Amino acid sequence: MNGQRLPREAGAAGIDAAFAAAVLEGLAQPQKRISSAWLYDRRGSELFEEITGLAEYYPTRTEIGILEAHAPDMARPVGRAAVLVEIGSGSSRKTPILLRALAEPHAYVPIDLAHDFFLASAHALAREFAGLRICPLVADFTQPFALPDALRSEARPRLGFFPGSTIGNLSPGGAIAFLRIMAGALGPGAYMLIGTDCTHDPTLLLPAYDDTRGVTAAFNLNLLARINRELGDKDGVNDGDSESMDGRGAGGERFALAAFRHEARYRRERDLGRIEMHLVSRRAQSVRLCGRRFDFAAGETIHTENSYKYSRDDFRALARAAGWLPEECWSDARQRFCVHLLRLSPHAPHPRTMRRAEPPATAPSSSSF
Ligand code: AVJ
Repeated sequence: MNGQRLPREAGAAGIDAAFAAAVLEGLAQPQKRISSAWLYDRRGSELFEEITGLAEYYPTRTEIGILEAHAPDMARPVGRAAVLVEIGSGSSRKTPILLRALAEPHAYVPIDLAHDFFLASAHALAREFAGLRICPLVADFTQPFALPDALRSEARPRLGFFPGSTIGNLSPGGAIAFLRIMAGALGPGAYMLIGTDCTHDPTLLLPAYDDTRGVTAAFNLNLLARINRELGDKDGVNDGDSESMDGRGAGGERFALAAFRHEARYRRERDLGRIEMHLVSRRAQSVRLCGRRFDFAAGETIHTENSYKYSRDDFRALARAAGWLPEECWSDARQRFCVHLLRLSPHAPHPRTMRRAEPPATAPSSSSF
């Protein structure tokens, strides 16, 4: 999600190489960082599913409530026999709500990086929606992509669906670039439904990202476990028993999970708020990966996620900056979450689709993921 250039249709080897490159490059930065896109291996996806059921994590149930209340209003403007294109389609629990509201949907195109469980959950929908063409697309949606050939030539309504506030993982500039890519892929006249968390109250946000059962902590720490599994040198974990005279590990260590802790931070810059997830080193230590050594001071962090929170009007302005017209917005009674319906003009192909986006004036310059 941070613009890493994964080969389209990357196989397992492509993912491994891209993961290794992202980790080694990210840990070499002054502020160590690893894109939140890498949190979602199989275990990470399971833990995220568990997060969505936590009492503190309001976004999922709030968004589902909005979809259940308003899906017919969302689907009506799109019209019949539409092609539904879902981005980063996770468990697809929200998809059936929309599919049921659409009049005779023609095809469902879930788009995600290669995960076998993603393909399985996409095909599970075929049972409920007989006659619906299911065309999963393995692609990195931060890079321009095209719909499958069979669908591209058809003049059917297109609806992009990006629920979950996942757009908040991108920087504002990245979100604009993403919306331009979607404009290019979906074409003139297309619609897009996007869920955004619009909460700015830290007393609600911080527990949502640091729950009492520690599921979010496990989700964050699983990134280190994944690094150990997929990239760690084979000669052992830094368990604290192998420290040399300088107080650092003797070398050859993978991440010791107990030597890091999860932290959620709320940051507000001008009107824009975001949650950050960090992994905090509990002590000075070094970690060796792929023959390279990474030193951590006590308290030093790896920044693993941004989750931007947009007010309704800020998100509309962002959509306009990417060439989309904000049509409507539905929210819950407490105004915690918004589902935006955006539209592209049916005329004239979008002029700026393939151009690299400049961050808007309000975007913090730090952090590009
Ligand atoms: C799936 C990206 C929307 O940012 O709220 C949940 C991920 N991170 N708890 C979010 C997440 C920590 C989630 N998104």
